[in-house]
Amino acid sequence: MTLTERDLKVIWHPYTQMQTALPPIGIVQGEGACVYDESGKKYIDAVSSWWVNIHGHAHPYIAKKVADQLKKLEHVIFAGFTHEGAIELAERLLAILPGSQRKVFFSDDGSTAVEVGIKMCLQYWHNKGESKTKILAFKNAYHGDTFGAMSVSGRSAFTAAFDPLLFEVEFIDLPDKENIKNLKSQISDLKSQLACFIFEPLVQGTAGMVMYEAKYLDELVAHCRNEGVLTIDDEIFTGFGRTGKPFACNYIAAQPDIMCFSKGLTGGTMALGLTTCTQQIYEAFLSDDRLKTLFHGHSFTANPVACSAALASLDLFLEAATAKNIRRIENAHQQFGLRIKDHAKVKTTRQTGTIFAMEWETGSNTSYFSSLRDTLYTYFLNAGIILRPLGNIIYILPPYCITDDELAYIYRTIEQALKEI
Ligand SMILES: Cc1ncc(COP(=O)(O)O)c(C=O)c1O
Repeated sequence: MTLTERDLKVIWHPYTQMQTALPPIGIVQGEGACVYDESGKKYIDAVSSWWVNIHGHAHPYIAKKVADQLKKLEHVIFAGFTHEGAIELAERLLAILPGSQRKVFFSDDGSTAVEVGIKMCLQYWHNKGESKTKILAFKNAYHGDTFGAMSVSGRSAFTAAFDPLLFEVEFIDLPDKENIKNLKSQISDLKSQLACFIFEPLVQGTAGMVMYEAKYLDELVAHCRNEGVLTIDDEIFTGFGRTGKPFACNYIAAQPDIMCFSKGLTGGTMALGLTTCTQQIYEAFLSDDRLKTLFHGHSFTANPVACSAALASLDLFLEAATAKNIRRIENAHQQFGLRIKDHAKVKTTRQTGTIFAMEWETGSNTSYFSSLRDTLYTYFLNAGIILRPLGNIIYILPPYCITDDELAYIYRTIEQALKEI
């Protein structure tokens, strides 16, 4: 039996309508920007496997560090105990984060990193004896699939079955020149109730790679600070070079109180999440009263093997060659955007750093469930490229090690699709 056949007997896949979806492709190996299926077919991973992979698949340097760690210490309880990898990761990450992040709280993935951030904010006010329990978020936001993370995400087909159980959140429009004044006054009006404002900086990935200007985010974050509203910068997607700078909030002067990381944190090798905060947040939990403790933790908190992957990924991320690759992808995307932007089937193109998106003209409104999505997905798979359009939006965000030839092939295939579909 093939992997595909065995899989279909026993596995339920994420974000997959199991009755109608194409059978899953069995992948047996990865190298650089590519993965190989069980028949030997090669696929260029143009979406970095759900945006996690930044240095390429089965990277030998990360693999070696992970293997070394496995021989030393695979896991240890992280309450009452600590280990070198977690400490070094916290030290090195805090040193490169913008602003004044001072403490690291580990978790398992993006959603749990967000849960921790939300709980830190809510309990910050609780510990201070203030009743601020409302959360502000952007319309169409996506912060994860656990209940808290879902609550602060936009209501959509993804959340419909759970909407009655999600807590109420104040949703505001993305900021722009026209509405910024109004958004700021909305925040001022709500400030006595607002625990925090959570945002995806510069790019709302799941909403369809929707991009907005840094200067208006800067104004909002600064305004929140002035009004005593805590801010959570969800860098789970944008962190580690995706937007062209190390972190998206390197584009703004105002700095958040809390930041969330996952995905590229381990180079996409292991599941790991972390939430960082300022000294001010941390100190609100210090007390002789044990009820002021942050009662949150997961079995695999700060798993040493995941930390070793994150440290190895950080080594690679800080190499000059990585910054050069990011510039190279940015430039290539720019050239491609110019080449296709006037095509009749291209409604718009947009780019932030290594993230390129184009909207396919359908004559009607964008939908995650558009049939064009399935047609395009299959077309690209047949051509040996993993692209997962969000409705009629095709986006490319490859591992930074992707070669010029591989990028050129992706662009050419999209242009071919524009001719044929
Ligand atoms: C901005 C953002 N936050 C949170 C998450 C959730 O991360 P995870 O899928 O690791 O739970 C995602 C995942 O796509 C994301 O893009």
